Amino acid sequence: MTSVKTDDNATNLTVLGIETSCDETAAAVVCGPAHKQILSNTIRSQIDEHTEFGGVVPEIAARAHIEILDRIVAEAMNEAGCGWDDIDAIAATAGPGLIGGVIVGFMTAKAIAMAAGKPIVGVNHLEGHALTARLTDDLEFPFLLLLVSGGHSQFLLVRGVGDYERLGTTIDDAIGEAFDKTAKLLGLPYPGGPHVEKMAAKGDVTRFRLPRPLLDRPGLDMSFAGLKTALRTQAKKLEPVDEQTIADLCAAFQRSVSDVLAARTRSALDLFRTRHPAVKPAIVVAGGVAANQEIRNSLLAAAEEADARFIAPPMRLCTDNAAMIAWAGIERLRLGPVDDMSLSPRPRWPLDPANAGVLGAGKKGAKV
Ligand code: KG4
Ligand code: ZN
Repeated sequence: MTSVKTDDNATNLTVLGIETSCDETAAAVVCGPAHKQILSNTIRSQIDEHTEFGGVVPEIAARAHIEILDRIVAEAMNEAGCGWDDIDAIAATAGPGLIGGVIVGFMTAKAIAMAAGKPIVGVNHLEGHALTARLTDDLEFPFLLLLVSGGHSQFLLVRGVGDYERLGTTIDDAIGEAFDKTAKLLGLPYPGGPHVEKMAAKGDVTRFRLPRPLLDRPGLDMSFAGLKTALRTQAKKLEPVDEQTIADLCAAFQRSVSDVLAARTRSALDLFRTRHPAVKPAIVVAGGVAANQEIRNSLLAAAEEADARFIAPPMRLCTDNAAMIAWAGIERLRLGPVDDMSLSPRPRWPLDPANAGVLGAGKKGAKV
């Protein structure tokens, strides 16, 4: 495949992306920006390796990435029908994340870049999530991003490539982590989110009333640890809990999280309007928790109420993948040449360094 020129002479780049920052080994080939196309998007999840431990074990993750990454890259290249001559650059996650996995991916990418004589782009994993909606939808800057995954829970104002302001974040557990911990204490399997959602569908949401943490305070920060503790207290009182009680507790938990996210989304949209009065607000949701239908519905309702666009990229691009990394590489390269050969992989890498001081360590490092 050769580079495609468009009418306006914008160069189309073909970029190989690599993602290894958590428990997915992924490679993808993406074209853009003039003619956006995902040529391949290969992902291998390690969930089976981690399930028995009830969470991601960093050493197991790093070893699994080493074992399979070469094959995943070859698959992505084959599926795209590309040889190295067709690739303009290699983009790989350089952080934040579990450092063992990040090193495997970024060093492999450097080796490929060196051997094939291509430029390398070190991508911030969060920037990958932040820019995905510009690959899947027609979306201009600025916009709002709500990132809700196992390691991250934050509202970001995305003003441009490399130009982010974190408007609010969790002060304790990430939302996916809260789902996973809740599932664990109710005896449901890992990863907990989908199981909590399935149980919640059978539950009576009115039986328990769990708190909506921090909603009495202004700003966009969130807290989920107290919610989980309140749920544990209720469960303890009723021990041994039967199936229906588990379902009712899941329904109450999911409703609390949805309410908190919807309320914070309304405030985020208000803030956006004061900052950018001439722009119709758009809110993008990304991360594994975005799979939750009740949460999606309440975010959609909050956006509609505020006359804002609501964008949820397809699930396979919302959760960790390499197409978003390749695309972030394209977004950076379109602004000028990039050479990140001397960049080192990093476990922590906030998008908004001015706002970095949040305590705690999540599945993927700091709860940024
Ligand atoms: O984005 P992701 O695939 O990986 C990272 O953490 O980066 O997100 C995984 C998280 C897990 O905590 C999982 O329990 C949660 O997303 N999750 C869900 C649902 N599906 C996945 N949480 C709530 N409801 C779901 N349906
Ligand atoms: Zn992620």
